[in-house]
Amino acid sequence: MSYRIAIDGPAGAGKSTIAKKIAKEKGFIYVDTGAMYRAMALYLLRSGVEPADGDEIAEKCKEADITIRYEKGGQVVFLNGEDVNGLIRTEEVGNMASASSAIPQVRQKLVELQQRLANSTDVVMDGRDIGTCVLPDADVKVYLTADSRVRAKRRYEELVARGESCNLDRIEQDIIERDKRDMTREISPLRQAADAVLIDSSHMDIDEVVQAVIALTEQ
Ligand code: DC
Repeated sequence: MSYRIAIDGPAGAGKSTIAKKIAKEKGFIYVDTGAMYRAMALYLLRSGVEPADGDEIAEKCKEADITIRYEKGGQVVFLNGEDVNGLIRTEEVGNMASASSAIPQVRQKLVELQQRLANSTDVVMDGRDIGTCVLPDADVKVYLTADSRVRAKRRYEELVARGESCNLDRIEQDIIERDKRDMTREISPLRQAADAVLIDSSHMDIDEVVQAVIALTEQ
């Protein structure tokens, strides 16, 4: 049986940074489920679907084949055979991913892929519903969060480092809206699993969080 670490939490809480480091330290595979929803969102945006058009999303998502490969220690997402890793980290794609991930047909397709991956190998998987739906019997479950202003500042610094122009208040507003959508949708809303450990990283650095999670795997 493979070993599974599930990390859930809102946008910008540092899940992927933390999960990648834990995966490296434990020799596990890091599965970024948000990237799968983003690849699906890219397909929908390219198809000209409106984020509010649930029926069209349910129909169009059938045409998107999302697959994952691990190359040079990192996850690469393919959309109908095309490597889309470099195209999915924009705010536009993130917002479409948040809207389209509320559609059951989208979730069903991607949850199956995630469960298949976790069956075959030891994983650190991050997302919104990993501890609650995808891997309900995960060995360790963490709910990682931080204050919305702190999360906005982290995202702002990431975008500035990439040379993108942005506004801190807008980013915080987007984060608050995205949290609300992710937490109030009907299927698999973002919430802390009853048996997940809550970690608030507002006043913690990356290594402190990583060590806190590693300690949970050693209990
Ligand atoms: O973690 P992220 O920002 O890359 O995720 C993008 C969107 O995908 C997020 O707003 C909600 C959705 N998502 C989801 O519904 N379930 C997951 N397991 C991962 C992401």
